[in-house]
Amino acid sequence: MTLDPIATFEDIARWTGPFRDAQRAAAQDALESGKVLFFPRLSFVIGNSEATLLTDQLSNGRAKNISRDPDGRVQGERGSAEESVRLNMMLGRFAEHARALVMHLFPGYAARVEQARTSYRPVEIAGRRYSPRDDDKRLHLDAFPSRPQRGRRILRVFSNIHPMGGKRVWHVGEPFEDVARRYASKARKPLPLEPWLFETLGITRGRRSEYDYLMLGLHDGAKLDTAYQKDSPQVEFAFPAGTTWMCFTDQAMHAALSGQFALEQTFHLPVEALAHPERSPLKVLERMMGRTLV
Ligand code: SIN
Ligand code: FE
Repeated sequence: MTLDPIATFEDIARWTGPFRDAQRAAAQDALESGKVLFFPRLSFVIGNSEATLLTDQLSNGRAKNISRDPDGRVQGERGSAEESVRLNMMLGRFAEHARALVMHLFPGYAARVEQARTSYRPVEIAGRRYSPRDDDKRLHLDAFPSRPQRGRRILRVFSNIHPMGGKRVWHVGEPFEDVARRYASKARKPLPLEPWLFETLGITRGRRSEYDYLMLGLHDGAKLDTAYQKDSPQVEFAFPAGTTWMCFTDQAMHAALSGQFALEQTFHLPVEALAHPERSPLKVLERMMGRTLV
């Protein structure tokens, strides 16, 4: 089987469009098919006053990323007061650019899309050591233990802002259905009352559904399977500095192997807002399991 998981859009060079109907239709079809949309001519331009933010010394060393909530609260950084203000502004500016791109490219999502965190990833990925479950250098789908999605989609926009031309290298793997077929039956089932207890104790924000347990099972199943990591269908792709890409990270198998200095914006979207809800992880898993999961 040959994988073709990257859809390149050479002619998209502006965050706010205007985009042609054909561009929008092709982008939405590729996105909802689980592909990574790559925009080689779409750059997030760093201002002169932001150049000093391009250092890994800004990270507090505990969290791997610096993040900004939609309300403007920044976590994980340890810059001076002045740097913090500039960092907050750069993240806010990226959040607006990413939002404009999503709104203009996918007008059908506009009414239902929810903007979540913005992150700055200033630390080189290569050489960082984690436990296999936490290691995003291993192929995985995004599923968050503390943040149940209950079928809601995870859409992420990334820009490589490396000032010296460093690439960000990903592996992109096989289609969601194939991952689900491999690992869904091995996913751990919740103990009785566990979802309620986790919610009550604040271990999870909201209650995990059967869908969330399955997605965590796919995430862990793939990451902990060393043979799968090595031998499963995957392609390597290097995103050059000055480019942007996006995908549904709950659907596209991905791993980030190396690179430094990226910005990322997360959005959530209910399955009903998709043009093809039947391709979503929720609907694929529900067909496979033969029951509703949320
Ligand atoms: C990930 O979502 O696994 C990491 C992506 C990246 O930082 O490039
Ligand atoms: Fe990920």
